[in-house]
Amino acid sequence: MAIEIPRDLLPADGRFGCGPSKVRPAQLEALIASGSTILGTSHRQAPVKNLVGSVREQLAALFRVPEGYEIIVGNGGSTAFWDAAAFGLIERRSQNLVFGEFGGKFAASAGAPWLDAPDVRKAEPGTLSVAEVVSGVDVYAWPHNETSTGVAAPIQRIDAEGALTVIDATSAAGGIDFDATQADVYYFAPQKNLGSDGGLWFAAVSPAAIERIERIAASDRYIPEFLSLKNAVDNSRLNQTLNTPALTTLHLLDSQLRWILDNGGLAWAASRTSESSSVLYDWAEASSVATPFVSDAAERSPVVATIDFDDSIDAAAIAKTLRANGIVDTEPYRKLGRNQLRVATFVSIEPDDVRQLTRSIDFVLENLGA
Ligand SMILES: Cc1ncc(COP(=O)(O)O)c(C=O)c1O
Repeated sequence: MAIEIPRDLLPADGRFGCGPSKVRPAQLEALIASGSTILGTSHRQAPVKNLVGSVREQLAALFRVPEGYEIIVGNGGSTAFWDAAAFGLIERRSQNLVFGEFGGKFAASAGAPWLDAPDVRKAEPGTLSVAEVVSGVDVYAWPHNETSTGVAAPIQRIDAEGALTVIDATSAAGGIDFDATQADVYYFAPQKNLGSDGGLWFAAVSPAAIERIERIAASDRYIPEFLSLKNAVDNSRLNQTLNTPALTTLHLLDSQLRWILDNGGLAWAASRTSESSSVLYDWAEASSVATPFVSDAAERSPVVATIDFDDSIDAAAIAKTLRANGIVDTEPYRKLGRNQLRVATFVSIEPDDVRQLTRSIDFVLENLGA
């Protein structure tokens, strides 16, 4: 190994990736302790249905959802939700705030041929775009946290008659506090702050969103079974999914939710991710070779910190050296193309491990090219 980081500078756990991300050892122990009660058993029987019910109840508690909101679940991760929304949530036209890759992917799904072309509000990576009320738009959509750039957006309902506010919370859910009354749909996959694995999507949906889903389902629009949100609502009410879900994903999610709730819920989680991300932003502000990529401090994500490096430093070489020392997934988002490190500060990641990470990076910087 070219550069060996001294052990006393290394984090205890070297996983800093943006997803799939760190799963706490206690979750794996809980999974093993479940023995033969969940894994390898039918998803139509009480043990798994109770697990789905527990996940739904805990998510509702975590988000403090208002009366009438429901937690729905389906297979296929957030990417499947985008297509499901194009089939069953957007009535005619969406407005999509695009300030990175993931917002752009939903905008692409919203360009389905049976809809009017979306009103796309694009901003340069590292900045935020804002919604504007436009007549004829019935869904306003943006990511709570844009994982590709490390920009976090405020969650505030768009005050437009009959329109829904639809938030991609894939990398925010469980790590950033917000007011659930401000969104009609808050959807995510659980492989980030929620410390689980991929393959499922969940959404907290308002009564207005359920009404929209039911109205479109009852119309003559063609909707494939697998992407039907109406199917998801009906099955979720029975604590099941249309087809077989990943039981491991559900189990890991359930134990993560219990851990967050037992520690104080979303406010606790948010203070922990803020503490961790501040370590990185403060380190970068103080560094002569690094700067936070997101220049407006108010828009910096508390869960995904992106740090730019001077041209004199090869960030890819830092990430490669860290990886060789067991610190993984600090590479930037592949399509952003910047001389950057991207570090997840999700709730499972120990703030002290983030402090150790900065010490490790300092050591690599002192020894790179030395
Ligand atoms: C903000 C955001 N939205 C959507 C996705 C896609 O999620 P999935 O891989 O579960 O489809 C990701 C994945 O990283 C994401 O970060």
